[in-house]
Amino acid sequence: MDQPHRNQGYPLQLLYSPERIQTEIARLAKEINASYEGRELLVIVVLKGALFFAADLLRLVTVPVRMDLVKLSSYAGTESCGTVRLTKDLEFEVAGKDVLVVEDIVDTGLTLVYLLDLLKQRGAGTLRVCTLIDKTERRQAEVTADFVGFHCQGGFLVGYGLDLDERMRELPAIYQMIQDHDGEI
Ligand code: PRP
Repeated sequence: MDQPHRNQGYPLQLLYSPERIQTEIARLAKEINASYEGRELLVIVVLKGALFFAADLLRLVTVPVRMDLVKLSSYAGTESCGTVRLTKDLEFEVAGKDVLVVEDIVDTGLTLVYLLDLLKQRGAGTLRVCTLIDKTERRQAEVTADFVGFHCQGGFLVGYGLDLDERMRELPAIYQMIQDHDGEI
């Protein structure tokens, strides 16, 4: 196992290397290409976290894609406040379209449930989800992703789009934050 190291004062343990991330992304792209052969996809990227993942994934997707961005927020520090807010709406109509939501992580599931409900209300034709990480430990809403990069139990993750108070998104790998003896990060 790689040695823990510190970034911006926080102790981190490597969880997924850049190479592992790219291997899983290549597999996901293959699955998506096979599932949507002959169709056009409307990809909805959930800002900000999914930005890095979507950029790498979509470059390997060979079916035609239109991309839209939505911004949803529910976190302060490491805690979800439980209320999801739509802070940037979509540009495109989703009615009748083959919609694929791209997320970096499904954690409590509250963000995804909120977005899926919204897209259903707006009449999405087909609706599926691709997430880089499916983390189940804190799941509150019953929701499953159709395309999953990594299944992960728990921990607070940073890097490759995932942040702690807007920091460390730019790290090329994904790290687990190590807790101190009080259980605090
Ligand atoms: C993160 C992440 C997901 C969501 C998952 O977004 O990008 O969208 O939390 O958590 P949940 O399953 O518990 O709802 P966040 O609200 O932190 O905004 P960000 O993408 O801008 O970091």
